[in-house]
Amino acid sequence: MQSPWKQDFPIFLPHAHPHLCYLDSAATCLTPKHVADAMYHYQCYMHANNPKGLYQLTAYLSDLIEQARHKLASFLGAANDSEIVFTRGTTDALNMIAYSYLEPQLIKAKQQEEPSNIVISAAEHEANILPWQRLAKAYGAELRVIPLNAKGVIDLAKYTALLDKHTRLVAICHSSNVIGVNNPVEQICKIARNKNIVTVIDGAQSIVRCDVNVNSLDCDIYTFSAHKLYGPTGCGVAYIRADLLEVMRPYQVGGAASISQHINEDLEQRNPQKLELNTVNIVGIVGLVEAIDYLTDMSSQKLNDYLCNLSAYMHERLNLLPYFQPLFPIQPKQIINHSIACFQLNGLNSQDVAGLLDYEGIAVSVGHHCAQSLHRLLGVDSSVRVSLGIYNDYKDVDHLVSALESAYRVMAV
Ligand SMILES: Cc1ncc(COP(=O)(O)O)c(C=O)c1O
Repeated sequence: MQSPWKQDFPIFLPHAHPHLCYLDSAATCLTPKHVADAMYHYQCYMHANNPKGLYQLTAYLSDLIEQARHKLASFLGAANDSEIVFTRGTTDALNMIAYSYLEPQLIKAKQQEEPSNIVISAAEHEANILPWQRLAKAYGAELRVIPLNAKGVIDLAKYTALLDKHTRLVAICHSSNVIGVNNPVEQICKIARNKNIVTVIDGAQSIVRCDVNVNSLDCDIYTFSAHKLYGPTGCGVAYIRADLLEVMRPYQVGGAASISQHINEDLEQRNPQKLELNTVNIVGIVGLVEAIDYLTDMSSQKLNDYLCNLSAYMHERLNLLPYFQPLFPIQPKQIINHSIACFQLNGLNSQDVAGLLDYEGIAVSVGHHCAQSLHRLLGVDSSVRVSLGIYNDYKDVDHLVSALESAYRVMAV
């Protein structure tokens, strides 16, 4: 049976890619017509620059952006709309936090001749390693890495042992883009909160479940990209707790950040706009809001149940292949949250496997998926990653499995 939502995605229309078996949603989700239409409508019929004029279009746009902020605040369970910062995506947000928040902390500690450390996990995407690594190098701070336990999630005891009074920040992913299972973020934040340590959660891979609540997670910062949520590229969100936002300095400076602009005066800066671009990605924000409406209108519970069942089926079928080697063996109960499988086929080059899958019309990721250090830790340099979206169905999984069977037949000689 075809996914009930497949028809919402024009990419599968006869004049586009009707036979595409897209198994790369962890890289980016395809775009539903609703999102593309909303963006088209905005760009064709409503576009102007929001804070610039007094004419009706601009007044409407200011409302539109503030309503979007409100929607995002309630989507994430934030207490105030002003805790929502529009970014260009997760990578942009994490770099912004490094520069706007962490760097001043490291400078201060260095001036006071105090050591600093930053804590990340072994399962981070490079977007959540490199900004911290760069600052650590620049200011002589230590980058501490939390090991994973046998289930592929952060080991809480080892995590706790890494924290001390010199820990300036903990930055971890809610869900790894390689292993796919959720980290115990609530406990991680609680442990850090008790020690007054700021937590940054990279939500790029978990936002799609539409069940994040920053209030119950009690994190300080939560970031994600719209394109991992069936929205457009180049747009994302950072939830930043109000008191933290207050002390952050602008990442980039220019028009929208400031209220007074005399050349010899310090700028008075508005929150949260001080952390945004002068002209934000309005059409991207329109697409993001539409994506949230699209997913929540259909009941995210229904979508999640659908994907959980499909994921369980995928893992079950893959695990039956005698030459299937998952990067991280997932326990049966964990399959529930897990729409990603990263693997190698025994003795085969992953690039070759992905090439043969492409020949069969199956789109997957191959390489280290921007998680080179995790691959190194697991003793491999490359893997195939398949990841499911709401347009996939059982037929796609069957197609994948039979293509892997033929790939193995062809290559393992
Ligand atoms: C866990 C994780 N963090 C960060 C990113 C970076 O997201 P973006 O490229 O949208 O900035 C990704 C993208 O794959 C990701 O999976």
